[in-house]
Amino acid sequence: MQSILQRIQEEANKNLQRVTDWRRHIHANPELSFKEVETGKFISKILTEAGIEHQHGVADNGVVALIKGNNPESRTVALRADIDALPITEANDVPYKSKVDGVMHACGHDVHSASLLGAAQILHKVRDSFSGTVKLIFQPAEEMMPGGASIMIREGVLENPKPEAIFGQHVHPPLEVGKIGMRPGMYMASADELYLTVNGRGGHGALPQDCIDPILLISHIIVGLQQVVSRRSDPTIPTVLTIGKINSEGGNTNVIPNAVHALGTFRTMNEEWRMRAHDIMRETVAGIAKSMGGEAELRIVKGYPFLINDEEVTRAAKKYAIEYLGEENVVDLPIRMTAEDFSYYTHHAPGCFYRLGTGNPEKGITSPVHTTTFNIDEAALEWGAGLMAWMAVRRLMEEA
Ligand code: NI
Repeated sequence: MQSILQRIQEEANKNLQRVTDWRRHIHANPELSFKEVETGKFISKILTEAGIEHQHGVADNGVVALIKGNNPESRTVALRADIDALPITEANDVPYKSKVDGVMHACGHDVHSASLLGAAQILHKVRDSFSGTVKLIFQPAEEMMPGGASIMIREGVLENPKPEAIFGQHVHPPLEVGKIGMRPGMYMASADELYLTVNGRGGHGALPQDCIDPILLISHIIVGLQQVVSRRSDPTIPTVLTIGKINSEGGNTNVIPNAVHALGTFRTMNEEWRMRAHDIMRETVAGIAKSMGGEAELRIVKGYPFLINDEEVTRAAKKYAIEYLGEENVVDLPIRMTAEDFSYYTHHAPGCFYRLGTGNPEKGITSPVHTTTFNIDEAALEWGAGLMAWMAVRRLMEEA
């Protein structure tokens, strides 16, 4: 085991420059969700040059590669990277700055893609020293519903061969480069969009008796919705409801408008409660509106499910990470109420989604993801690629 670990570490070190070049190429040429045409071609080209068997065009721009070790039919482990960028204008002054105005790899998916390409090279090189198959999933459209993961799964990415475990990684600026973090069990939230419309009857602000005031009505509704979190939900299930926008159709200092709209998000970590909460929220909205003589409707657009890290696979992944990086560089992470479409895979196969440390306060690399100044310490690419390869190989070495 020691010799294969060493080989992977050496390869990851040797490949760092190439992986960095790929990351910079993808970073400079970002493409939005569902539009990753050139990114998909680039990934396919690198795999072709390395002689790695793959299929391009899964969920349109996705790429799925297979690296077969000895006895390839025996078992399969999957690794996943997302490849899409965000509608953000990059403010970093770097040689590989985004060439596309208004589009930026501000969530590190360039890092995930390049790392998985690096892992592919390593796995291909050491394929004579492991048993089984590694499936590499380059997934489009993580940032936009319904999420590329759900489409790839529908198109059969988790079949033929079926992976017995799946690993994914995500950049994490709060975590210092060289470290890695994870959490077994519930880890990230489901995320549903809330679209609230309240209809009243507008009129003169001095004559409320002749109106049905939708402003007062929506105020009661927003307060009422918060009791879904504070009074109706099981306190052991993390739940968040946030209203992020309110706007009225007209209205002024002395004018009551006819209607008001609000937008929000509902997040939790239990599918049964999630569905029940949808009903409670709709009833709450309709009931409060009726009690005040108005009408209201809550439209809920279902987003990604919550992400569950399989207990056994994640404890094992922690062990593999310690073997690769040393105990001091592997940390336990808290629950996050953000969402991620890797969650779809975790409801079909035992999975582990872990965080790759990419921050470096000494170099001033601290900007969070989804900001105009997000960047990484590129030294992280060595572990981004090497650890992914090790996770797969090491998992395949476990007794079935
Ligand atoms: Ni992301």
